[in-house]
Parts: sequence; structure tokens; C-alpha cells
Amino acid sequence: MEFNGQIVLITGASSGIGKQLAIDFAGRGAVVIGCGRSITRLKEVLKQVRQSNPESVMMACDVSDSEQVQGMIEKILTDFGRVDILINNAGIGMRKPFAETSLSTIEEIIRINYLGAVYCTHALLPSMIAQGGGHIVNISSGAGKIGTLNMAAYCASKFAMNGWSESLYHELQPLGVKVSLVCPGPVHTGFSRAFQNSEPQSPPALFVGSGVVSQAVMQVIERDRFERIVPRWLALMCWLQRLSPALFRYLAHRRFRPYVTGLENRRS
Ligand SMILES: NC(=O)c1ccc[n+]([C@@H]2O[C@H](COP(=O)([O-])OP(=O)(O)OC[C@H]3O[C@@H](n4cnc5c(N)ncnc54)[C@H](OP(=O)(O)O)[C@@H]3O)[C@@H](O)[C@H]2O)c1
Repeated sequence: MEFNGQIVLITGASSGIGKQLAIDFAGRGAVVIGCGRSITRLKEVLKQVRQSNPESVMMACDVSDSEQVQGMIEKILTDFGRVDILINNAGIGMRKPFAETSLSTIEEIIRINYLGAVYCTHALLPSMIAQGGGHIVNISSGAGKIGTLNMAAYCASKFAMNGWSESLYHELQPLGVKVSLVCPGPVHTGFSRAFQNSEPQSPPALFVGSGVVSQAVMQVIERDRFERIVPRWLALMCWLQRLSPALFRYLAHRRFRPYVTGLENRRS
């Protein structure tokens, strides 16, 4: 599919999956507007993106701050007139027992991963409804489908995103605005750098490149699909979990149990 002239707003475009999306969408003819907090990294991505589409821009914006988001959307609508595709991708991760996670960390994760998407969508939606169409793609995670050990706050943020997306799908379809959800498994990015030594870790063989996620995003738009879970092994796991939740929870518990470190120490 080509996206010639379409205006695509990607949050978290300064690295990882968002950077890949920015390069790929620009490569297919879209005008890319990327945002993130790191101006240095955004500038580097912009250089690559402009090789394909010189009209593209990057904007500094912390999506967890609703006023910054409102300001960014107003500027985009003034400068470009519309946004055709919004990709809510910005996110942070963590891997730590819940009891050892500070409330400020939990709040930060919910504010960036879930409320960040809510703020961007809420600010942009009136213009999409007025223009009679648009597509919102939310980048969730396998952790938005399956509760994972030591990722309670992260899972909560992505489960929230999934329920919100499904609800919006029904609400916005009659208004011409499409909503899709992409749930990746582990992806080779800098995402887990800060917690790479904590357990349980995903086996390296299960990681995919960010291009796989970028392709899945393009496919949900092109094929007008609500959801894609990538890669296939994760889609199969999610299907099994839906089919037999109790059995799946039992098997997951057996896999996770050896990693519940320090529990006995904390009890004594
Ligand atoms: N990598 C994985 O294994 C994996 C698996 C499943 C789902 N995901 C999801 O994929 C998305 C992208 O992750 P990634 O793997 O590409 O990680 P990444 O390389 O760390 O990129 C995260 C992006 O989000 C941006 N960001 C973080 N906080 C932000 C904020 N408050 N405001 C604006 N931008 C913010 C970062 O930019 P700045 O630092 O410049 O702000 C960066 O561009 C996330 O939603 C993540 O949950 C990742």
C-alpha cells in the first residue's frame, strides 16, 4: 500500500519501533510527523525520514502531559490542516515485583503508555470526525493480552489500552474513524535496556525486528483489520489463553514460579 501525501503522526518516533515506522511510512510516500522527548534523537531520525519525504517534521512533546499534547496537535492542525493516521506508539517498560515498585513509577507508566495515547486521541479526534475519516493505530503488547510476572504496571497500562481501543472501535466506526490494535511480542529495540538483567527474560530466539511490527501496522491499515498480534507464536499463545484461561494460567504459573525470587525472604 502506498501512503502518498497522507499525514501520519507517530508518537515515540525517536527510537525503536516508532523510528522504524517513521522511516517506512515516509518511504511509502507519507508526510511523517514524529514526536518524542529527545530532540537529539528526533533530529537524527528526521535526517533519514527527509531523504524520502522532505515535508516531514519532528516535534518535541511529552505525551504524558496533556497540555503539551494539546499544543502539539493545535500546531499540527494549523501547519498541515489534518492528520490521516495517528499511531500511538510512545511507551516505556519495566520489570520489577509490584511490591517493590514505587507508586511514582506505576503512575508514570500509566501516564505515558495509556494516558499518553488517550491525550493524543482526544485532542485529535474532533478534527478526524470533522474531516469524515482517519485511522488510529495503538501499539500495545502481548503483555496487554497475558498477565506477565514482574510487569504488573506495564500489563495494566497495555490491558487498559486494549479495552479502550475495542470500545473506541465500536464508537468511532460509524463516524468513519477506524481503530486498530497491534500487539507485539519481544522486539529488538532499546526498550528493555534499563531492566535487561531482571527476570523472567524472553528467550533471544523469540525476539523480532522492529520491521515486523512496522509491517503489521501497515497491514492493519491496508486490510482494515482491528487487531494483529505478532509474531505468530504469540498469536497462538493468546488464542490458547482465550480458549482455556484456567489451563493457560496454570502453565504460565509453572513457568513463572522459579522467578518469584525473594518472596520467601520478604515473608520472613
Ligand atoms: N520492544 C519491545 O519488546 C516491545 C514489545 C511490545 C510492545 N512494545 C511497545 O512498543 C512501543 C515502542 O517501544 P520500543 O520498543 O520502540 O521502545 P523504545 O525504543 O524505547 O522507544 C520508545 C519511544 O517512546 C518514546 N517515549 C517514551 N516516553 C515518552 C513520552 N513521555 N513522551 C513522548 N515519547 C515518549 C521514546 O522517545 P523519547 O525517549 O525521546 O521520549 C521512544 O521514541 C511501546 O509502546 C512499547 O510498549 C515494545
